[in-house]
Amino acid sequence: MSARPSIVLSDPPLASQEFDIRPVAGSFAAEVVGVDLGAPLSDQDFARIHQAHLDHHVLVFRDQRITPAQQVAFSQRFGTLQIHVQRKFQLAGQPEVLIVSNIKEKGEPIGLGDAGAYWHSDLSYKDRPSLGSLLHAQILPEEGGDTLFANQHAAYDALSDSLKRVLAPLRAEHSYLAKYEELRARSPWRPALTPAQLAEVRPAVHPVVRTHPETGRKALFVSEHFTTRIDSWPAQESQALLAQLFDQSTQPQFIYRHQWQSGDLVFWDNRSVVHLAAGTPDHLPRKLYRTTIEGDLPR
Ligand code: SIN
Repeated sequence: MSARPSIVLSDPPLASQEFDIRPVAGSFAAEVVGVDLGAPLSDQDFARIHQAHLDHHVLVFRDQRITPAQQVAFSQRFGTLQIHVQRKFQLAGQPEVLIVSNIKEKGEPIGLGDAGAYWHSDLSYKDRPSLGSLLHAQILPEEGGDTLFANQHAAYDALSDSLKRVLAPLRAEHSYLAKYEELRARSPWRPALTPAQLAEVRPAVHPVVRTHPETGRKALFVSEHFTTRIDSWPAQESQALLAQLFDQSTQPQFIYRHQWQSGDLVFWDNRSVVHLAAGTPDHLPRKLYRTTIEGDLPR
């Protein structure tokens, strides 16, 4: 009797990698040490990372020697990637990667140098803002260049009950154009947006307090960069309330300051934190690659 060919029904399960998740002392963030995001990640390892992301809101993966394509592949495990409206700063051959950099070549910027100049949650001006973003260090300055993250669950939890009641039904407008001309005056390389780009960044209206779709936790969801007004409120009251909320959302006790190290890949939850680029001296080159994952409709 001839031997039957064996039929492989499924690939063997991937082996788990050995890695640690270490809370950063005095902060909500955590470091992930020992994992290689460039290697295939088992479902079990992915689940651990996913849970750590929900628990800590900012994960710092140390020592990642990965290619942009590997960054894209890891990011895509969390959802569809969003393409930034500033097409000129896409990485060649990898449109999902936005170059964040202050470097100029032949007088022309190679990346969005002023990304993160104001506190914000990425792409909050979209109907479906970002679930999370990943920033992978390529070239780091000898000084400066830190990124600050503020925990918006903690900022919300610390509000008085009476203010929480006021905020509960409110919605606010988010606009990509809110600070565009101000940034353009400082960074003239920012192009005037074409009609097609303007159509891509029509303002969106979202709850002022959103409920995290995976954890059920409430978070403030306004930012000085993109939030322009409280829907249906008179301008003066709207500005006064927003100023109070911007101040609350970035109190020092809610902030984790990330000082970049070579090989760092930082993955934050835009539904839980706002962030800010603390600034880099102009003469010190800084370059990072950003991918951004689409999220849900805020509720
Ligand atoms: C960003 O806002 O995506 C960039 C933050 C940074 O450059 O530190």
